[in-house]
Amino acid sequence: MDTPEQRIQIAVQKTGRLTDHSIDLLERCGLIVTKSKNQLICYGENMPIDLLLVRDDDIPGLVSEDVCDLGIVGLNIVEEKRLGLLAEGSEALFKQIYELDFGHCRLSLAASDGVNYSGPESLQNKRIATSYVAILREYLNKHEVDAETVYFSGAVEIAPKLGRADYICDLVSTGGTLAANGLQEVDVLLDSEAVVIQTQAPLGDAKQALVDKILQRLDGVLQVRESKYIMLHAPRSALAEIRNLLPGSEAPTVMPLDGNDDKVAVHAVCRENVFWETLENLQAAGASSLLVLPVEKMLA
Ligand code: PRP
Ligand code: ZN
Repeated sequence: MDTPEQRIQIAVQKTGRLTDHSIDLLERCGLIVTKSKNQLICYGENMPIDLLLVRDDDIPGLVSEDVCDLGIVGLNIVEEKRLGLLAEGSEALFKQIYELDFGHCRLSLAASDGVNYSGPESLQNKRIATSYVAILREYLNKHEVDAETVYFSGAVEIAPKLGRADYICDLVSTGGTLAANGLQEVDVLLDSEAVVIQTQAPLGDAKQALVDKILQRLDGVLQVRESKYIMLHAPRSALAEIRNLLPGSEAPTVMPLDGNDDKVAVHAVCRENVFWETLENLQAAGASSLLVLPVEKMLA
């Protein structure tokens, strides 16, 4: 077995909205791990990669302090840590290297239904409850607004009801939590999604090569999520029109059909979903024998 120095440690959220996606994504990159979520570490069986299951708020710190080489965490947490360290006069020692296109949510301001909000100036002299003190501070400074931030480590939505705040600043995904608490989103501070961060400490050639390989595979996994392989027969005369109808495809492969000079077979990878309307349009343009297949792996 490799020594810990040779293995890559990836910090992943222990329980929460990013956990399953993060592990699933790494598995689709070919990593096989022992899967118990009760353990703090999932050891990679076929690659020198281990997953550390931790609180998401701890991930930027662990990567910054070089305890972990990589982390998968929401941009909201990354930004809060980065700005928090800046406010203390120090610097985050991680770099953001990849956006993962899942875990989309936003950090928003919300107020009780019926509150009149007409822009940041409405926050003047108000109290705002949040766990995102650093991001909120920066926002208030940027807009030159004087407001009091009230720190809540969780259940921020309850603050207005308790009379502790006029506004809250918290994550919104579906909006269900706000609605359930009679709150209304009034402004967005940050659009967030899951990202990969890497320590700024040098990894060494072997580790860096492995990180690069994982990133290339991640790229492939993300690309195939929407991609489809489409096959059809087309009259030669309709080829130009049919090419234009293929969504997000590069040069398709065009092949002769045995014993048929008028028709060709067209195969193309479409990097977007192929909808029924597209198939119907292709058919109307003269295409027949249409087949759409999912793409499992892709390497550019
Ligand atoms: C966030 C946020 C809200 C909820 C909003 O918490 O604090 O409570 O999600 O989601 P919705 O708009 O879909 O209702 P999260 O689940 O991230 O937990 P955490 O803050 O404890 O990490
Ligand atoms: Zn959290």
